[in-house]
Amino acid sequence: MIGQTTHPVLPMPDHDELALQNFVKSFKLHIAMKIVPGNKTVFDKRVKPSFEREEGRAPEDRHEIRKALADDVYYGLWGSLFRTSQEMSWDCVVSSIDRQLPDLIQASRTNGDSLGTLELDSSTEIPGYLEAVDFHAMPGGYHREFADDDVSAGALYDRGGYLYSMGAWGPMLDAMGQRMVSYLSENRPEFQPKAILDMGCSVGHSTLPYVDTWPDAEVHAIDVAAPLLRYGHTRAEHFGKKIHFAQQDCENTQFEDESFDLIVSHILVHEMPEAAIRNMLRESHRLLRPGGITMHVDLSLYQDLDSFDEAMLDWDTYYNNEPFWSVIRQMDPPSLMAEAGFSKDKVIQQLVSRISNQSPVFADGRNSGGRSNWFIFGAQK
Ligand SMILES: C[S@@+](CC[C@H](N)C(=O)[O-])C[C@H]1O[C@@H](n2cnc3c(N)ncnc32)[C@H](O)[C@@H]1O
Repeated sequence: MIGQTTHPVLPMPDHDELALQNFVKSFKLHIAMKIVPGNKTVFDKRVKPSFEREEGRAPEDRHEIRKALADDVYYGLWGSLFRTSQEMSWDCVVSSIDRQLPDLIQASRTNGDSLGTLELDSSTEIPGYLEAVDFHAMPGGYHREFADDDVSAGALYDRGGYLYSMGAWGPMLDAMGQRMVSYLSENRPEFQPKAILDMGCSVGHSTLPYVDTWPDAEVHAIDVAAPLLRYGHTRAEHFGKKIHFAQQDCENTQFEDESFDLIVSHILVHEMPEAAIRNMLRESHRLLRPGGITMHVDLSLYQDLDSFDEAMLDWDTYYNNEPFWSVIRQMDPPSLMAEAGFSKDKVIQQLVSRISNQSPVFADGRNSGGRSNWFIFGAQK
């Protein structure tokens, strides 16, 4: 059982590859369920008392907590296991992609444009922050190409992302898109967008639910990475979803003013530096029609966590190739939206306790190092 809904560009594991992939998924679950909670015990019983003895006061913020934890053997063991499992999530998919790459590329070439479209623009500049680091330790990053018409980054993100999320984002990895659509259906039932844009869409995991919810809307999805877009286009066509994919920078798109009613992103903002976030929000304001809505979903802001969970979440900044992981988490969404041109009384903010009901990790509602809470923010124009 691969657990994921299959399609022509998904790299299919052979027997041994699947055994390793299933091990990695279970290993990650084991770490999340059994090892992560011990960090809190160790902090309360060992690290905090020792800090208090030495400093005569409690640690003040996530930085002091992280530094104090860094010397503890249990936290070190957890971090090492976590980083190892992270690298394994990608590595255990690479061999199956290498083995099938010519077939995956061929499947993507012959897919055609029966429903949606794919517009690649090789002059699109890859932002320096994506060039500089392979985010979340995904080898090659999002945009690098190793063959003509390459789709390998898409294949790696799709299968590796399923293992990374331990299956919690569902067999279509669309839990975030589903959550955003539910938010709108529950809170703005009258809102019926005719044109939708998904920014930083990657392979379109989160884009598909918008097509299902508003079948008459024109749905666009942009990303700077060509291998992801080729892959996403083939995948969407296979599932019968009409999406227009285009290689564009969300800080400065090619679309006309007031082109969209709804502009969304899913786990994009935590990978952007502050200036890029501000540019993207300003660009969203330009692209929205009056009355249009923009919304972004990501893991929790620090303001909604206690300092220990902040420190646990902050681990990725230092050890998981997530240099901007903390940037959005310590910003103030209402001020950001106001600066981008939105009125403060039209700001949207919602805490989401769980992104998906399919997550076995957080099914008991336990906070696992800050990772069970999510956050939606945005505004209406
Ligand atoms: C974590 S992935 C997003 C995942 C995707 N939204 C989903 O729901 O599965 C971040 C994506 O943002 C893209 N990206 C980063 N900066 C961008 C920019 N300035 N313009 C367009 N895409 C960008 C990256 O190429 C990458 O595919």
